[in-house]
Amino acid sequence: MRSKIVAGNWKMNKTLKESKELVKALKKSIKGFTLDNTRVIIAPTYVNLQKVSKSTKKSAIEVAAQNMHQADSGAFTGEISAAMLKSVGVKVVILGHSERREYFGETDALLAQKVDQALKNKLEVIFCFGEVLEDRKNENHFKVVESQIKNALFHLNADAWPQLVLAYEPVWAIGTGETASPEQAQEMHAFIRNLVAEKYNNDVAENVSILYGGSVKPANAKEIFSKKDVDGGLIGGAALNADDFTALIKAI
Ligand code: 13P
Repeated sequence: MRSKIVAGNWKMNKTLKESKELVKALKKSIKGFTLDNTRVIIAPTYVNLQKVSKSTKKSAIEVAAQNMHQADSGAFTGEISAAMLKSVGVKVVILGHSERREYFGETDALLAQKVDQALKNKLEVIFCFGEVLEDRKNENHFKVVESQIKNALFHLNADAWPQLVLAYEPVWAIGTGETASPEQAQEMHAFIRNLVAEKYNNDVAENVSILYGGSVKPANAKEIFSKKDVDGGLIGGAALNADDFTALIKAI
């Protein structure tokens, strides 16, 4: 059975002190919760991964990295490898975020390499994709999402899929306050699940968690999360505040 997931992508926010404070508040607020088939994941910046990973060890909170390099090691100044992430207790990595694609030129081909590298190192991947506003306006959104998924993931064998989580993040809804309607999210998620079923089989498709991301807030989460093929959220802004993030966990 696929899990429900609430994942917080902290992006380039929170110093070490602020990260510690947020983790402390989160641990406190989710203490008495029964997280029935629900995973809570947070993705701080690289420099704070080790501390956060240590301080969440005995809690229900899992820690993810926001990115990773595709090579084992070597002369790649400023980059971080899968082995480095693992060595500080990280088991999950976000790949393909639209900000990585837009500001750092990450292509589907590069992402396919990063996915392979993560899986080879037994890291679970939260793989992000989504269309820009123009694609949505031109009704190209299904085509764009299909090609992003095919190009980066469809070379994988079915047995790799339990290590994958998909995250549909329409770029026009990220940090804009504009959310895809619950119906738009459900429509795309059902399309994605069907795509996976056609390429692999129903079992693979039914067992992969598909998250929605883009301006998810306590006020709109319940309705989005209630949709059949929406298995949770990848949260930006609202993950930076313990009360809001806790409300999102409650909403699932
Ligand atoms: P916001 O929730 O701030 O729109 O960000 C979503 C996101 O990009 C998560 O990865």
